Amino acid sequence: MAGTLAAAAGLVMPPLAYAGSLPRPGESLDFRKMPAFSTDEKLTPYDDVTSYNNFYEFGTDKGDPARYADAMKTAPWNVKVEGACDRPGNYALEDLLKPHDYQERIYRHRCVEAWSMVVPWIGIPLADMLKRFQPTSQANYVYFETLNDPEQMRGQRSAFSTIDWPYQEGLRMDEAMNELSFMAVGLYGKTLPNQNGAPLRLVVPWKYGFKSIKSIVRIRFQEAMPPTTWSRLAPNEYGFYANVNPDVDHPRWSQKRERRLPSALFSANWIDTRLFNGYEQQVAGLYKGMDLRRYF
Ligand code: MTE
Repeated sequence: MAGTLAAAAGLVMPPLAYAGSLPRPGESLDFRKMPAFSTDEKLTPYDDVTSYNNFYEFGTDKGDPARYADAMKTAPWNVKVEGACDRPGNYALEDLLKPHDYQERIYRHRCVEAWSMVVPWIGIPLADMLKRFQPTSQANYVYFETLNDPEQMRGQRSAFSTIDWPYQEGLRMDEAMNELSFMAVGLYGKTLPNQNGAPLRLVVPWKYGFKSIKSIVRIRFQEAMPPTTWSRLAPNEYGFYANVNPDVDHPRWSQKRERRLPSALFSANWIDTRLFNGYEQQVAGLYKGMDLRRYF
């Protein structure tokens, strides 16, 4: 009886009861190691992962995010969930994360600019988070959006920026539900530094890094393929799919090889790029019958 009452009380607890339980930036996280989602390749050192970044909201130089992203306030943080799902709402980050156990996934991370890293991410499977919103049969795609706040993000204030903010990305629903797709809240066992997309960023390791959108504030399920920042800017250079593929060159450079970081300018550590970034076994089935040159 008491248990029933307590359970009933739990049901009516306002969601904000959990607010404040999320560790602050740089705090240690509890997580499970996942040997099935790991690699014996050498990890890219923490200092390189957190000082060589792309986060155009803070500038276009690789050092700008580490220099300026501290201006972004990551708590409190809310994520708006909308579109074709039965559980839309404006969720406090703590409530999104609370029911889940964190995992460590050590993934290769390959940028379209032909550099790569190996990063130990901490987070939860994207599918586990998305299922809780109960997407409907209309949900063919899922769209993600980054914070849009020029006061906190100096790159958004820049007169030279060609990006139409906010940064936008998307996945086909079966890609989003693939076991590799991951929502990261940390790296190297600690909460994400702002420059890496705190407090919540996507990680899709078989795709070029630009699909892995940072500092997410909106998730929308939709029937039509969503617009994405880079494919809007240069559709002949960056497609919606953006699967890592050594046989499909960028119009301005080859994608056959990549510079594994850390590497000095004159002794660059070049390695061969692999189809789907080496995750062919897990994801090739998603693209069966599709011409990967056309759907790049
Ligand atoms: N997300 C936002 N909001 N803004 C960005 O500029 N850059 C993308 C992606 N996510 C970007 C973003 C690119 S091009 C890459 S390669 C990765 O973030 C880089 O992630 P990292 O800095 O954690 O290595």
